[in-house]
Amino acid sequence: MSQPVQATNNINEEKMNAFLGKVVGDFGASLSSVLTYIGIKLGLYEALAENGALTSAELAAKTETTERYVREWLVNQASSGYVDYDPASGKYSLSPEQRLALTDESSPFYVGGGFYVLKAMSRAEPRITEAFQNGGGLHWGDNDPDLFIGVEKFFRPGYQMHLVADWIPALSGIEEKLKAGGKIADVGCGHGASSIILAEAYPNSIVYGFDNHEPSIKHAQAAAEKAGVADRVKFEVAAASDFPDEQYDLIAFFDCLHDMGDPVGAAKRAFETLKSDGSVLLVEPMAGNSVEENLNPIGRVFSAASTLCCTANSLAQGGTGLGAVATEDVLKETVSAGGFTEFRRAAETPFNRIFEARR
Ligand SMILES: C[S@@+](CC[C@H](N)C(=O)[O-])C[C@H]1O[C@@H](n2cnc3c(N)ncnc32)[C@H](O)[C@@H]1O
Repeated sequence: MSQPVQATNNINEEKMNAFLGKVVGDFGASLSSVLTYIGIKLGLYEALAENGALTSAELAAKTETTERYVREWLVNQASSGYVDYDPASGKYSLSPEQRLALTDESSPFYVGGGFYVLKAMSRAEPRITEAFQNGGGLHWGDNDPDLFIGVEKFFRPGYQMHLVADWIPALSGIEEKLKAGGKIADVGCGHGASSIILAEAYPNSIVYGFDNHEPSIKHAQAAAEKAGVADRVKFEVAAASDFPDEQYDLIAFFDCLHDMGDPVGAAKRAFETLKSDGSVLLVEPMAGNSVEENLNPIGRVFSAASTLCCTANSLAQGGTGLGAVATEDVLKETVSAGGFTEFRRAAETPFNRIFEARR
């Protein structure tokens, strides 16, 4: 006769219940993230933001969607804390905080991009599972295109808030050079959000955006034209290890060095193409200096993204996979192997570590 599970495994009931409670929360968060993506894509949050409190029928009418789905969606969203519900009127609405975070792409609190990233990364699962078994990786460009859109939307608010106000001034004498007119390389620029912010802030400077993903470079070019800075931002398809030499005052890597197959080669190329008094700006995800320092909500997010995307991209390029939670020591070794002698943490935010390297 089999033994009761509790006796067999010596289970602590309180701990078991706490763990199961946590798992239920995670089930809810994971499933709800799909509904949040749908809400962003179909303009459901925007309609709530524009029209105030609405019933499910009113929201469905405003967004030309099917009421039955919208009704179910709203229950999920209210139970998630993403919309508010008033039982007296049966109407749903957004608080000012929910509205900023879910609908205002110009706000530093905007989080919508993260849901594009979640959707795209979950689509990578078959390829990543195979890579667990057989090695290899997944090239950036082979991901669901929502990854490229999502990364831009997710990171731009942070760049808008901190890049010009905090990060550039934290570098050694770079702000003055860019104000007077300097040359900037934005390596691994993706859709070019950071390049465009720099071009807008320093109109006397020229920004060169490089990425080896051609569709991203095309998108970046179009974005620069739309922003009216195409005269001073030049985008080009180029790998981090051999982008053109313009003798730059600033070479920036925004959330990309750890994705690269050959980050030492990228650091070497930066060393060769940087002016003697120039700086490298290295923006990397916030991570600790040991495994235990990553055992928190931020470490949970970045180690997951690293497994599904960053490490996979590096391994696909034949690299060793620095990954999104690379320690400061490992980043310093990587940059030093490129030739740099100075490396320091110049600034940080809850999500990012900002390093400066100099010759
Ligand atoms: C996470 S995205 C960051 C994009 C952009 N810097 C941003 O912050 O929005 C990483 C970028 O690095 C680019 N990348 C990866 N490996 C590269 C390499 N070896 N050479 C050039 N670009 C590379 C990818 O194509 C992708 O656009």
